[in-house]
Amino acid sequence: MREAIAYLGLGSNEGDRAAHLGRAVERLGAVPGIGAVRASSWHENAYVGDGPPLAPFLNGAVELRTVLSPAALLGVAKALEAEAGRRLPAPHHRPRPLDIDLLLHGDTIVDTRDLVVPHPRWHEREFVRRPLRELGLDLDALPRWQRPAVLHTPAEFAARCSTWLGGGCTVGLVPTMGALHDGHASLMRRARAECDRTAVTIFVNPLQFGPGEDFAAYPRTFDADLRLCAAQQVDVVFAPEPAAMYDPDFCSHVAVGAAATTMEGALRPGHFGGVATVVARLLALARPTHAYFGEKDAQQLAVVRRMVQDLGFPTAIVPCPIVREPDGLARSSRNVYLGAEDRRACTILYRALASARHAFARGERDRDALLARARAVLATEPRAALDYLELRRDGDLAALPPGPVDGGRLLVAARFAGGVRPVRLLDNLSLDAPPDLPAAAEAP
Ligand code: PAF
Repeated sequence: MREAIAYLGLGSNEGDRAAHLGRAVERLGAVPGIGAVRASSWHENAYVGDGPPLAPFLNGAVELRTVLSPAALLGVAKALEAEAGRRLPAPHHRPRPLDIDLLLHGDTIVDTRDLVVPHPRWHEREFVRRPLRELGLDLDALPRWQRPAVLHTPAEFAARCSTWLGGGCTVGLVPTMGALHDGHASLMRRARAECDRTAVTIFVNPLQFGPGEDFAAYPRTFDADLRLCAAQQVDVVFAPEPAAMYDPDFCSHVAVGAAATTMEGALRPGHFGGVATVVARLLALARPTHAYFGEKDAQQLAVVRRMVQDLGFPTAIVPCPIVREPDGLARSSRNVYLGAEDRRACTILYRALASARHAFARGERDRDALLARARAVLATEPRAALDYLELRRDGDLAALPPGPVDGGRLLVAARFAGGVRPVRLLDNLSLDAPPDLPAAAEAP
């Protein structure tokens, strides 16, 4: 390894804090492969982490020259922490005799499960910035971890995900077409909670729009989308141009059978082929351990699950609950196009589904009676032009025969034509789902 200048952040809030820090600096200077150790002075800082307050820290920073790799330097830091009496693995939210963070290591970038360099938050912490300034550094010139990193080419995206996987990380993929809202944010939060790294794709996929559909008019709000991804601490946003995703000779398509031919598939021929093709391409590029899809597009979820199972992608498909407005409207990127009257009228979709669910909860089991119940509610709203209302088996959405049912999912699609442009809205509800909104939003 060529020699690099590295910076460590040191802290202590247990025992003789100055002695712990001083000893660490001394010991660092004696490690083979480390030289020219220079330390800042120590500063007292209030605890800034989560949970109940801990005793104040004494913090500082150390500059050193080293031929050790970032991973080897981290190993040295961990050994010094253990020597100072810190229990490893360190219990969360406990006083620490010695805490050492690797802040910077020349211009090296590391992104593995155990180590991220530059340290993702060094520039946000005054207790790190102050000693670095004292060491004479121009903080604005130092490398920072950019989160989210924005990648545009499939090769860059594949390489980044592959580095994560190679470093032992789990990777959560959230495929989107942008125009992000709270529903997407909930997918990102789930991915963040369950995976070491989160990648969001923003790509308005031309393959899933039919002739005369709203490809050109689909809302594109990239700057706001990036802000939402940053707030959700997404690691990477992959935002390719169509030509980068599909080169001029691209001619392979994924066709999913029965799951893709009814309901949305019947009304939008080719739509699910386009969805399956782009999702397959994204899964092949990223090879994520998990991929997150909203239950709002229940048939899309069923199609993706079928494809992933049939083609053997090693990715866990994670369904995430619908996020609704307080009045029941399911969050969707296309809601922005609803006129004021349609915005009021379209809550009929959720109320119709909730009404059938109430009937099921009160003991109604007949498929057609449940559908008739929802249909009667829909009929009270003349602004809604119904495309379909179905009761299907939960999960794969297979057709249910007439007669008694012991559960299932209601799916509805309707058009509203009075706004900025005509909008088709989809919604669905499991008959077993507990009421999740105030009674006023659910009342038929
Ligand atoms: O649900 C969507 O936004 C899209 O259909 C998806 C899954 C990102 C594929 O383009």
